Amino acid sequence: MIVSVAIEKGGTGKSQTAVNLSSALVKFHGLKVLVIDLDPQGTASLGFGISPLSSDTYTVEDVLSGKIPAQEAVYSYNDSDLCIMPANHELAIYGSKEFTEELGKILRPMDKIFDFILIDLPPTLGNFTMTALCLSDSIIIPVDASASVCIVALLSQLRTVKNIVETGANANLSILGILAGKVNNTRICSEVLSWLEEEYPNLLFETKIRQNIKLAESLGLGEPIFDYSPDSYGALDYKYLAAELMRRVS
Ligand SMILES: Nc1ncnc2c1ncn2[C@@H]1O[C@H](COP(=O)(O)OP(=O)(O)OP(=O)(O)O)[C@@H](O)[C@H]1O
Ligand SMILES: [Mg+2]
Repeated sequence: MIVSVAIEKGGTGKSQTAVNLSSALVKFHGLKVLVIDLDPQGTASLGFGISPLSSDTYTVEDVLSGKIPAQEAVYSYNDSDLCIMPANHELAIYGSKEFTEELGKILRPMDKIFDFILIDLPPTLGNFTMTALCLSDSIIIPVDASASVCIVALLSQLRTVKNIVETGANANLSILGILAGKVNNTRICSEVLSWLEEEYPNLLFETKIRQNIKLAESLGLGEPIFDYSPDSYGALDYKYLAAELMRRVS
């Protein structure tokens, strides 16, 4: 199953979710999961300890441009069933008319090997995001519940999904869920959460990701939260999210 993690807004927790949700699916549900970093910022790669500055790591760009076969850019995290295909800034200048075909060529065989492929996307509705959404089974939309401007981005993202489905660009694209993250006890946050619960009672994940400094630290230090701080709120929230996701897909 191919799942894009996307919203047309920066800093909402997309990469954080790609790293820790995939880790939880492997750790607690015994699945094989591949994270494809399709963001030239390379944040998800960094979250698994692969520096976007390193020059001795193959990336998704090497695969897309035909330099190497896909499996050579698949790195196992700590010899587990959790794998990452990293990205770095070179992806930003990647441009090809055949991009959809090339990404499809990566995804199809990998979809047979892995139970889940999570694609971490950049915050803009560019070619990467559109193509990934056209090739995905579903989307997870992470919103920053501590910022009311996120609502506009959410509405825009939902409209994009609707267009993709209605034009037939990908009639099978479904919304796996809207994920409220960076949840804290401010008034704005409780207002955003009430609005989300009212408007999208079925799409909104019951699990909320609380604001947790351990999450912010772990991403930059290159370890999923279950290794960096297994007893933190962040670890607990992502563990619950994985369980809820498994209920949704079954
Ligand atoms: N629940 C949380 N608690 C605390 N910090 C968080 C939480 N979620 C995300 N962060 C932090 O917020 C910042 C942005 O998160 P992240 O990189 O996952 O967002 P993003 O949506 O992928 O951003 P971009 O759009 O730039 O790709 C990071 O420093 C991350 O560690
Ligand atoms: Mg990101």
